[in-house]
Amino acid sequence: MISVTTLTPETVEGIFLVEQACFSTPWSLESFQNDLTNENAVYFCIEDAGKVIGYVGMWQSFGEGNINNIAVLPEYRRKGYGKLLLEYLVAYGREHNFSFLTLEVRESNQEARSLYRSVGFLEVGRRKKYYERTEDAILMTLTF
Ligand SMILES: CC(C)(COP(=O)(O)OP(=O)(O)OC[C@H]1O[C@@H](n2cnc3c(N)ncnc32)[C@H](O)[C@@H]1OP(=O)(O)O)[C@@H](O)C(=O)NCCC(=O)NCCS
Repeated sequence: MISVTTLTPETVEGIFLVEQACFSTPWSLESFQNDLTNENAVYFCIEDAGKVIGYVGMWQSFGEGNINNIAVLPEYRRKGYGKLLLEYLVAYGREHNFSFLTLEVRESNQEARSLYRSVGFLEVGRRKKYYERTEDAILMTLTF
């Protein structure tokens, strides 16, 4: 059974396992544990029968949300879970009167770029050679 929850002491390790499975340079478990007590951190995660299969995390301040990461386990992709996570984040931003949500994404990450576009993000800029001093970052923003 699919359910949507958030970052808690019960889900933090599952979120970290998703992170490890999806990125070559994952955040550490400690980084996620630090966010447990960070009142500016906002997370949503999806569980399938109690197993975390995807998560999204952002830091917010003064009505702006900066998405740090989103990931869905490979075997659960293209089923709408990434979009569902972003819809929760957008709803959170709307409920809390945010001005905008923003993020950076690798130029080569076409699946993430189309996912963000699918919920209303626009590509508004570029940081040259932002990743490993090689690959450009595309800046994307959703304005409320
Ligand atoms: C990006 C990611 C989170 C997408 O998760 P997902 O659950 O597969 O996404 P969804 O099924 O909700 O897809 C929603 C829309 O995004 C776009 N999309 C997602 N994956 C795509 C792909 N491989 N190719 C093209 N478009 C894609 C499509 O528009 C899709 O809608 P559709 O299926 O109706 O065509 C997932 O691929 C992932 O974890 N990637 C590795 C981690 C990563 O790169 N994170 C982003 C860092 S900025």
